[in-house]
Amino acid sequence: MERSLSMELVRVTEAAALASARWMGRGKKEEADEAATSSMRDVFDTVPMKGTVVIGEGEMDKAPMLYIGEKLGTGYGPRVDVAVDPLEGTNIVASGGWNGLAVLAVADHGNLLHAPDMYMEKIAVGPEAVGHIDIEAPIIDNLRAVAKAKNKDIEDVVATILNRPKHKHIIRELREAGARIKVIDDGDVAGAINVAFDHTGVDILFGSGGAPEGVLAAVALKCLGGELQGKLLPQSEEELVRCRAMGIQDINRVLRMEDLVKGDDAIFAATGVTDGELLRGVQFKGSIGTTHSVVMRAKSGTVRFVDGRHSLKKKPNLVIKN
Ligand code: FBP
Repeated sequence: MERSLSMELVRVTEAAALASARWMGRGKKEEADEAATSSMRDVFDTVPMKGTVVIGEGEMDKAPMLYIGEKLGTGYGPRVDVAVDPLEGTNIVASGGWNGLAVLAVADHGNLLHAPDMYMEKIAVGPEAVGHIDIEAPIIDNLRAVAKAKNKDIEDVVATILNRPKHKHIIRELREAGARIKVIDDGDVAGAINVAFDHTGVDILFGSGGAPEGVLAAVALKCLGGELQGKLLPQSEEELVRCRAMGIQDINRVLRMEDLVKGDDAIFAATGVTDGELLRGVQFKGSIGTTHSVVMRAKSGTVRFVDGRHSLKKKPNLVIKN
């Protein structure tokens, strides 16, 4: 992949964030998602690559754009797999909450797991704790391992987890172990990425969320030198069949970094839609929209924070005012 692709891809997440941020707090998650999706789709047309969506908005017959199998880019350049989540945290944006993101990941063709749209149990840590976690081990063992790797006491370790009834037992175990907890209502891509940045104050992510989100987070953590392990959690016979159709025969198999994103290169880009620990959300003032993004590449390990100041007069297509 070309190095310059990174900057091209930030333009894509910036456009999605600008469009969906207009819907912040307006209680309309579908509209926020549609705005992000259609802006992201438009800007992809200008990116020099031969891309195919492997994680997107759904199957071709269910999603009007950014559907699985859709071709993206100018048709010139590297042949790549593309994973998108134009709006990660639709409820977050609808309610004006924390950590809404526009997200994408790109890897050489054939290197991203075509994760089915179902749940995945996840555990994720930053660079210091790589090689010390095990999704199949008891929670206390993982906490101990992270504490040791980070030279902390368990009481100093902060775990993050989605606030779901199914996670009650994990939260109870975390509390019994003495760890501190940051419960999040939505947005486990941000939750997983945050574990790789000390200043976010989060050390480990537990719990189940979307499998596509798991692959996106794994790409980010690959760039950051962190680790995510996952296990698919099919909820029905139909989901089981879908896993098998995607080449995942053993449902109990632990999906490791190399299963989620193969090879030594991949790019991850995200722009904040609403404020979060890592990225600020979009701000508007008159005809100016400002964005805050992160873009990173696995091959070089470079992580760039990119601030954008966008003239909505010159590029009125970036936002839909209504
Ligand atoms: P959406 O953007 O699709 O609403 O996803 C938000 C999210 O919180 C993800 O971050 C997470 O992986 C998933 O939903 C969890 O699913 P559920 O809300 O069904 O527990």
